[in-house]
Amino acid sequence: MKTNPFLTKGYISPEYFCNRVNETNKIISAIKNSRDLTLISLRRMGKTGLIHHVFHQNEIKSNFNLIYCDIYQATNLAEMTQILGSAVFNQLEKTTDRMLKKFKRFFSGIAPSLSINPITLQTDIDFRIENKKQAEMTIQQIFLMINKSEKPTVLVFDEFQQIEKFPEKNVEAILRTYIQQMNNVHLIYSGSSKHILSAMFSDKDRPFYQSTQLMELGKIDSNSYIKFIRDKFLFVDIKISEKSVQKILRLTRNHTYYVQYLCNRLFETNLNEITEKIILERLTSILKENESYYYGYRNLLTEQQYLLLKAIGKEEGVRQPSSRKFTNKHKLGATSTINSAIKSLLNKELIFKENDTYKVYDVFFSLWLKLFNK
Ligand SMILES: Nc1ncnc2c1ncn2[C@@H]1O[C@H](COP(=O)(O)OP(=O)(O)OP(=O)(O)O)[C@@H](O)[C@H]1O
Ligand SMILES: [Mg+2]
Repeated sequence: MKTNPFLTKGYISPEYFCNRVNETNKIISAIKNSRDLTLISLRRMGKTGLIHHVFHQNEIKSNFNLIYCDIYQATNLAEMTQILGSAVFNQLEKTTDRMLKKFKRFFSGIAPSLSINPITLQTDIDFRIENKKQAEMTIQQIFLMINKSEKPTVLVFDEFQQIEKFPEKNVEAILRTYIQQMNNVHLIYSGSSKHILSAMFSDKDRPFYQSTQLMELGKIDSNSYIKFIRDKFLFVDIKISEKSVQKILRLTRNHTYYVQYLCNRLFETNLNEITEKIILERLTSILKENESYYYGYRNLLTEQQYLLLKAIGKEEGVRQPSSRKFTNKHKLGATSTINSAIKSLLNKELIFKENDTYKVYDVFFSLWLKLFNK
């Protein structure tokens, strides 16, 4: 069986990873020069993949303890502490770092219950955290501990914007206070909510103000993506012209996940040649498969919001949604209410702004609105 080389989740190895050479070097350099970093991009652009790619590089792998925490699921400080504790504990299991190994004893003191997660096969540890004070103490102890390890540590908080939703007060200040004291730990904060993260790191009244280097992850450059895609198909003797790959990139706006997904589904066809006709056919079946999600979005919106979203999809983006030309063409009603509808669609992450143009965030949804939603 041929392995599908187009991943639609996770990271395996550099073989399945396109380019990101400059971005990888930039992050490595920040780590080596002890700078903390904040990585921001649109959803599904490749932040998590890039972090794992950096972790895969020899000079990082062999010289640092690597701890990755995805805090997307955390709804409060205790849950975040739990995720951090599990990540650190699992690193202890693997490490040869003698200082770190010593800390296993510390864990049996504060977290007596250990179990193997049947899905991830990692050890889950159950801390007894009943209140904010205990969560704070545990975080502080964990930070003190990793700071003392022989090797320096790279600690990643992915989906860091979540902390803004925690009910506890002063979470940022608490974390910042402890983090500031760790000179042997390099932090990478990552997330997709640009307005939340930018405000957190660039507002001078906030605890994390200018504490990190900001890095915005853009799209993978077309030429290297074209080469990557063609190479993967040609490797298994599937023909695909440069023009056809350009079509894939155009349809998916070069947005990593959508490029990967469409290519994954094209690879699946087992055809000897991928033509533009096949590309459109496959795309159509993806959009049809997703239809029930798209109808679901509709239920979340008012009539006007939905009409506006549809109009933006149909036009493949709009600069001035409240212009009379646009509202008349799409029968959107009073221009005075357009601004609040735009705000609401931005908040729901159904649209975003790129180069002064509002676009539908989900590329496939955008295409569906354009092609199928009369
Ligand atoms: N450089 C790359 N080459 C090939 N595939 C990639 C690359 N970067 C990411 N991917 C793939 O693209 C998809 C999205 O990437 P990833 O999950 O890293 O994005 P993300 O920005 O972390 O998304 P989210 O905001 O939803 O967490 C995944 O399937 C991943 O395997
Ligand atoms: Mg991610």
